Amino acid sequence: MTEQAAALKAHAITKSFGPVHALRGVDLELRAGEVTALMGENGAGKSTLLKILGGDYRPDGGELLLAGEATDFTGPADARDAGLRVIAQEPEIVPWVSVAENIYIGTLGSVGFRRGQLERNATEELRRWGFDRVIDARTLGADLSPAQRQIVEIMRAVIARPKVICFDEPTSSLGDEEVALLFALIRRLKADGVAIGYVSHRMGEIFQLADHITVLRDGAYVGTKAVGETDHDELVRMMVGRDLTQFFHREPAALGDTVLELDNVSNDIVHDISLTVRAGEVVGVAGLVGAGRSELMKTIAGDLLVTGGEIRMHGVPRRFRSPQDSIRAGIGFAPEERKAEALLLDRSVRDNTALAVLRSLSRWIFVKDAAESALAQSYIESLRIRTPSPEQLVGRLSGGNQQKVVLARWLATKPKLLLLDEPTRGIDVGAKAEIYAIIDRLAHEGVAVIVVSSELPEVLGVSDRIYVMAHGRITGELPRAEATEESILALAMDEEVAA
Ligand SMILES: Nc1ncnc2c1ncn2[C@@H]1O[C@H](COP(=O)(O)OP(=O)(O)OP(=O)(O)O)[C@@H](O)[C@H]1O
Ligand SMILES: [Mg+2]
Repeated sequence: MTEQAAALKAHAITKSFGPVHALRGVDLELRAGEVTALMGENGAGKSTLLKILGGDYRPDGGELLLAGEATDFTGPADARDAGLRVIAQEPEIVPWVSVAENIYIGTLGSVGFRRGQLERNATEELRRWGFDRVIDARTLGADLSPAQRQIVEIMRAVIARPKVICFDEPTSSLGDEEVALLFALIRRLKADGVAIGYVSHRMGEIFQLADHITVLRDGAYVGTKAVGETDHDELVRMMVGRDLTQFFHREPAALGDTVLELDNVSNDIVHDISLTVRAGEVVGVAGLVGAGRSELMKTIAGDLLVTGGEIRMHGVPRRFRSPQDSIRAGIGFAPEERKAEALLLDRSVRDNTALAVLRSLSRWIFVKDAAESALAQSYIESLRIRTPSPEQLVGRLSGGNQQKVVLARWLATKPKLLLLDEPTRGIDVGAKAEIYAIIDRLAHEGVAVIVVSSELPEVLGVSDRIYVMAHGRITGELPRAEATEESILALAMDEEVAA
């Protein structure tokens, strides 16, 4: 049997952005009916490689072969015409048109559907993949959740029935139900003979989906393994270039005074929330997507108004009318949707890191540039932010490195209370361990920390105590010793409070 040419083969691809060598001679093969995972630390070059496959960037060197034929894409339209689709890490959604129009956006000119027809087609397509359960074709782009935006982006690609399809961290904004639907979609594409590329930092997903795994490190090609021939530890070694301890173990700190106290706090989304966090304590908040965890964080941080109950800091009742209020009171809040809510993409790493400090110090007019640079530099090192310098624009950093900048900003405010919503989403395995270590260190310095996370091992690993939420309420509180994945899930799925 002769070996069939790969549906897509990238060979010795190089790409630089000024001084940054994003890719230094990378190979990738995507075969029909197979999933090839692409792994590597934040900034390793994964998204850059996919953007080259999608025709967004032209490589500086190397070659692309489609079914054995050399090709050169001059733009995304070329790649699409060749049957190749890349689903971006950041979906681009037109806010003022419907889901249906967003899905068919690239095809509208040629086909000229009427609106009703478009909606029927979109609905049928959503139903075909089971996504009609979680999204309506008539919803306006502006009203979509991050998960729904991601689904629209995926539908745009699959309606074209591509031969090659690549996903860039597709699950980072999806809940469990949507992830299950996406995996079913990928398996069907695979059965239909589509060649699939898949970028993810989540090891579990890789072992569920992938046939082969290609690892990049620092823009260089490290190797490709068949899934049956490798394991977690080997992949980590390939990505990071060293061994990492797999499980994080936190040494609880001595607890101080109660820093934060919520007494029956309510608003439109969360109801009767009572909780406490003490200095030196790390409190986890677990629950399913939609349980109200992020809204609780926003309520504490002054992003959502409190309509009932009381928030006390150090025993004093507080009413925050804006995030600025809460920053002044010593609260740092790294929200879940970092891009939209937290980063200035066209400003430097340095400016973004200093931003929250600046706000809190705005009464003093001058802040020394040198001090800002030193601040940024120290976090670039401790969080291993991959950037040529503190002056680089945040919009030019890789997705995971942007997230690290948001964390740096809030760490820099030296908060008394730190709220971290999904602190390691999109963050690579090496940096995850470092973020856990930073949380641990902060607790030992007497900071009170609340961590919201959908990853149960993460909540179990970092928390001294865990609150579980369902339907906007707290359904239980577990001390570390009693918390297990099972006990958390039982509380997270609590049906009684639904009524
Ligand atoms: N337009 C750009 N201008 C300058 N540098 C860039 C640009 N795009 C990417 N880079 C740099 O190229 C390197 C590779 O980035 P890339 O986005 O491919 O990483 P990644 O592997 O996808 O990381 P992540 O897991 O964080 O998403 C990074 O150092 C990044 O800062
Ligand atoms: Mg990326």
